[in-house]
Amino acid sequence: MNFADCFTVLGLYDEAGPAPITPGFEACGVVESIGSDVTTHAVGDRVIGLKRFSCYATVLNVEEDFVRPLRDNWSFAEGASFLAQAFTAWYALCVLGAMPISAKEQSRHVTSARRAVLVHSAAGGVGLQLVEMVRHIGGIVVCTVGNEEKAKLLKERCGIPRERVIVRGVDDAADGLEKVVRERALAGEGGLDVVVDSVLGRNFEPGYNLLNTGGRYIVMGVASMMPRGGLNIFRPSGWRNLITLALNYLRRPSLDLAQSINDNKTVSGFNVSGLFSEMELVKRGFKEVDQMELPRPLVGRKFAFEDVREAMVFFQSGKSKGKLVLEVNGGEE
Ligand SMILES: NC(=O)c1ccc[n+]([C@@H]2O[C@H](COP(=O)([O-])OP(=O)(O)OC[C@H]3O[C@@H](n4cnc5c(N)ncnc54)[C@H](OP(=O)(O)O)[C@@H]3O)[C@@H](O)[C@H]2O)c1
Repeated sequence: MNFADCFTVLGLYDEAGPAPITPGFEACGVVESIGSDVTTHAVGDRVIGLKRFSCYATVLNVEEDFVRPLRDNWSFAEGASFLAQAFTAWYALCVLGAMPISAKEQSRHVTSARRAVLVHSAAGGVGLQLVEMVRHIGGIVVCTVGNEEKAKLLKERCGIPRERVIVRGVDDAADGLEKVVRERALAGEGGLDVVVDSVLGRNFEPGYNLLNTGGRYIVMGVASMMPRGGLNIFRPSGWRNLITLALNYLRRPSLDLAQSINDNKTVSGFNVSGLFSEMELVKRGFKEVDQMELPRPLVGRKFAFEDVREAMVFFQSGKSKGKLVLEVNGGEE
């Protein structure tokens, strides 16, 4: 599951088109049959597949270039937890963020040699991939998360010291995010080179202010706009959430472009599914992600395919850690 699936089923994902729509951007399983001109995969291969929508299914037809081998000794659940989010993290950090793909390589454009990166929702699916990538390139990663349990996870799994993790609404409640990142997480030594923001809302301004000269602010999500709970108009809570959604939308951050000239900072946004038609980019992304040899992803929780509704509600609660996976037939391998 990807967070975008929640937006899809709520009818908030434009590109999904009108209902009925089958959500899902990635899946993992065994090749059942291949097209006559397919050369890179064979029947019986254990593979990961990416597709724009439709992956909440038992059988999928996936284009050859979007099928990748599942790494030896990775489970199906791990395979289904990796590619879309690793590719997203790579695009944010290494393409838009101009970070290198290895510790030895020079930063492509960023001025600071420290490679300081702020990752919001760092204990989530994409967040953990970003954290691993920044560690891989020898950078300094500063994280925000929604609760203390996630800060603990980042320490135990990735070795991120507690002072580099900001529990939003708690650690920054008194002094604000900008001050806490500058003084506590970065210990007063410089600012950030890249911010990867999937939450947006009130995080934007402090993150932008924290950027060094030449720094890059990458917007990839608007999770803060998502009301925690459903949008069912037949329930009072649904109406409340709809109003919250509208207010969050109206309060979304904006940037004065005239002012930005003097700031020497870049702000960019992207949607990976819109990049799937750029085959050279996709191939480069897959290759560079492979080269990084990232650790196996964290499968935070698995749900039976039949319990998809419960899984969606849990995802929208904002409490998930790592990746949520839907398993067909009990996840048989
Ligand atoms: N642009 C793209 O192409 C692209 C591709 C993939 C993913 N994304 C975006 O990247 C983000 C991460 O995706 P993911 O699939 O890996 O999900 P995820 O991070 O595993 O889960 C979503 C997380 O968002 C945070 N969050 C903040 N406000 C929330 C709210 N109001 N309701 C629910 N959750 C909230 C929660 O973490 P904390 O409370 O700990 O912050 C939650 O755990 C999402 O915003 C997604 O839309 C964008």
